Amino acid sequence: MSEKLTDLAEWKALEDEASSLAQVHMRDLFTRDDARFDKLSGEAAGLFVDYSKNLVTEETVGKLLSLASARGLEDKRAAMYAGDKINETEDRAVLHVALRDTTHGKYSVDGEDVMPLIEEELSRMDRFCAAIHSGGHTGYTGKPLTTIVNIGIGGSDLGPVMITEALKPYWIEGRECHFVSNVDGTHLAETLAAVDPETTLFIIASKTFTTQETMTNAMSARDWFLQRGASEADVAKHFIALSTNAGEVSKFGIDTDNMFKFWDWVGGRYSLWSAIGLSIALQVGFENFRKLLDGAAAMDRHFETAPLNENLPALLALIGVWNRNFLDIGTHAVLPYDQYLHRLAAYLQQADMESNGKGVVMDGSAVSASTGPVIFGEPGTNGQHAFYQLIHQGTDKISADFIAPALSHNPLGDHHVKLLANFLAQPEALMRGKTTDEVKAELGDSIPADRLDMIARHKTFTGNRPTNSILMERLTPETLGALIALYEHKIFCQGVIWGINSFDQWGVELGKVLAKAILPELAERGQDKPAATAHDASTNGLIDRINRIRKS
Ligand code: F6P
Repeated sequence: MSEKLTDLAEWKALEDEASSLAQVHMRDLFTRDDARFDKLSGEAAGLFVDYSKNLVTEETVGKLLSLASARGLEDKRAAMYAGDKINETEDRAVLHVALRDTTHGKYSVDGEDVMPLIEEELSRMDRFCAAIHSGGHTGYTGKPLTTIVNIGIGGSDLGPVMITEALKPYWIEGRECHFVSNVDGTHLAETLAAVDPETTLFIIASKTFTTQETMTNAMSARDWFLQRGASEADVAKHFIALSTNAGEVSKFGIDTDNMFKFWDWVGGRYSLWSAIGLSIALQVGFENFRKLLDGAAAMDRHFETAPLNENLPALLALIGVWNRNFLDIGTHAVLPYDQYLHRLAAYLQQADMESNGKGVVMDGSAVSASTGPVIFGEPGTNGQHAFYQLIHQGTDKISADFIAPALSHNPLGDHHVKLLANFLAQPEALMRGKTTDEVKAELGDSIPADRLDMIARHKTFTGNRPTNSILMERLTPETLGALIALYEHKIFCQGVIWGINSFDQWGVELGKVLAKAILPELAERGQDKPAATAHDASTNGLIDRINRIRKS
């Protein structure tokens, strides 16, 4: 068994560091060092990252870098790029970086060069997009297919939705795109009500092609299509599959000629760069999809080659570990100041929480330190009027990433400078805070003397709350690709520090299994069912109550 993380000398040095900084305020760190911003910020692949508003000094960062060395981060990074099976519990390589390598580096898995496979699939996607866009591939009544319905869930949905929404300024005119994920029939029914079968292409996106939600939605979409005058033979024109599982795709009834494939070394939540991104390419054009890959590749090169003390994903990861493990901050907010990024937090919830929400280290023993934080977020400025109160004055500290483009796609009056002013003001307020004396001085004699102290305390901000600011010139396919790759590598680095497997997701299995067991115990409408006995009293009681309602 490898040495426990918390027993490492480098870990203990960081615990001492946290004690020595316990009484320090970031405000004073800024006052003390004029060069703090320059020292604790960096730029790569079109992204500028300022991490100076964290409770760290250069020494703290040095100690975090020592921890990274002690955990073999550089070797683990090299192992990922080399196609080693670093996803040990599933015995898989982790090579999403190969999917976007525009320099055509060498990547192999089990001795097989994967680059020709990737290029071939990208060419097929390119040709398919051209056929759909040109009207060469038409629907069963000869009309062009202008509407896409992507049916998938988790990694087969969140990435494509988030990217498609983020790249709305790049949408091809006259095309529309819908995403159906939830097994709640409402999601599919509402979507189908808005589309025309003659002009709709259904994309069934599922790595395994066995996911209950996706298969159920796909079957119902197929039935709906057939009930609208189309024949079985027409299905081939309107249904395509994105998957690693050709056998299941055929069983479902989709010809494997209409399947775009990817491979088991592409994790579900890292798959938007693969065939899973076909909905993106259809909506914004294949050229823009390529640019998205290029942007990610630029960040990949930075991550692979930059020394760790200049390496933005590694530095963000280490700052995250500092906040999580040494300052005991268990929640991290993702706050994009860009309406187009309104699904970013939802996307990163899966990317981060499914990757690093783990309780055992690689050898199966319990972790000795806390792992991934809770991720949540909303676009600014909306969040400011909802949950920021707790971030500013709540009893639990929350760390946050503020993300913004300096230029807007919609330069409407002074909207964007107002947005940017808020993007800058919030981290400043969270860092600086406001002392009771400052509040009192500001209030002056506007408040009766007997109430002054009480009011001043309510208006006091402790500050010292950590944030990162990520700035880009404009939200483009390239900068978006780089942003997502930045987060992917950050998550990887944190997994390495914690010694966990960031690439499996056994935690979602148990619920799936139990749902399968419960399904036959639930009554159809009007059906009688015996009392449930197979579960705990709460679950049995809820089943019985649902069945009574469904019977009546
Ligand atoms: O939620 C578990 C999970 O396996 C995710 O990791 C994955 O992205 C999602 O389900 C969908 O899986 P699939 O693409 O195989 O349908």
